[in-house]
Amino acid sequence: MRKILAVAAAAALALSLSACGRDTGTPATGGSASGAVAAVKGTIGVAMPTKTSERWIKDGDNIKKQLEAAGYTVNLQYANDDIPTQVTQVQDMVTKKNQLLVVAAIDGVALKGALKDAKDAGIPVIAYDRLLRETDAVSYYTTFDNFKVGVQQGESLLAGLAASGKPKPWNVELFAGSPDDNNATFFFNGAMSVLKPKIDDGTIKIASGETDFKVVATLRWDAATAKKRMENILTKSYASSDVNGVLAPYDGISRGIIAALKGSGYGSGGKALPVVTGQDAELDSVKSILAGEQYSTIFKDTAELAKATVKMIQEITSGATVTVNDTKTYDNGIKVVPTELLQPVPCDKSNCKKILLDAKYYTESQLG
Ligand code: BGC
Repeated sequence: MRKILAVAAAAALALSLSACGRDTGTPATGGSASGAVAAVKGTIGVAMPTKTSERWIKDGDNIKKQLEAAGYTVNLQYANDDIPTQVTQVQDMVTKKNQLLVVAAIDGVALKGALKDAKDAGIPVIAYDRLLRETDAVSYYTTFDNFKVGVQQGESLLAGLAASGKPKPWNVELFAGSPDDNNATFFFNGAMSVLKPKIDDGTIKIASGETDFKVVATLRWDAATAKKRMENILTKSYASSDVNGVLAPYDGISRGIIAALKGSGYGSGGKALPVVTGQDAELDSVKSILAGEQYSTIFKDTAELAKATVKMIQEITSGATVTVNDTKTYDNGIKVVPTELLQPVPCDKSNCKKILLDAKYYTESQLG
């Protein structure tokens, strides 16, 4: 009985300490002379946005597998890119008193009511890959360096254009991600930090004239929406010229764009496909890159992101010091959220296969 009470007391301490870290945004510390108590291993609620993109399936699987191996129970939910569904799922995790929540939001702001309830119930929240905005109920954030992703996309686009041998000025079109996802702005701003000087000095021409984030954004990162916009741009602005490059923020969008381009005769009859960027190293896009269609992608190893998140969960639930490597970048409108940032890796036909096989992200037979 004494032992049970001691464990319960340690558990309460761990939770209150982690709640402490959440309130202040400072790492939770303490719990014993060595700075930690035994982790309390309850149920971790994991809210993922959608199964329509491969990466989130891998993220969910990796977190579940790693948490279960560490002794936790996992309540993993996907919301089919539907905001009310995700609100209900997170609310349900709070009602069920899940020990800690890991949330990859569809809309970074829409969950703030449910997150307030989590906070009131003393449940720590980790924003996973996508920042939770306008709430003080988020304790920590794990993600990749999102501005750098955009920089790498911009650089890759320029490298592809240079390698294409096409004469300057290059005709380029711009696409961004979902405006309600904080990452989309970071990707776009990162890419534009590379591309804007080239637009300004006339190296790049945007025939559609569409350069504003709000105009080039793609709600829900939807491939069909991007395909339609590309088709409209081709009809409106490229009746008598060719587009040479397209900034695409995510592989699903890249494939939508490539479908529109092929529909309009690119990729056959001596009319080269433009340089199209991407992100996530989705299998279909990697195959497209290896086949010489999509030009590049940005590889973000979701197993590593899961690992960093699980480590953080173990630290929080044991009251140990939570280590993060960024305490400046991610202001969610209410607080700067302490963040663990991982590094993205650009890849194209010259190195994609090796990078992905070395990381064991795909097997040789999957890549064909
Ligand atoms: C993620 C990207 C992904 C995009 C669409 C973003 O929040 O960071 O990796 O391509 O969502 O799912």
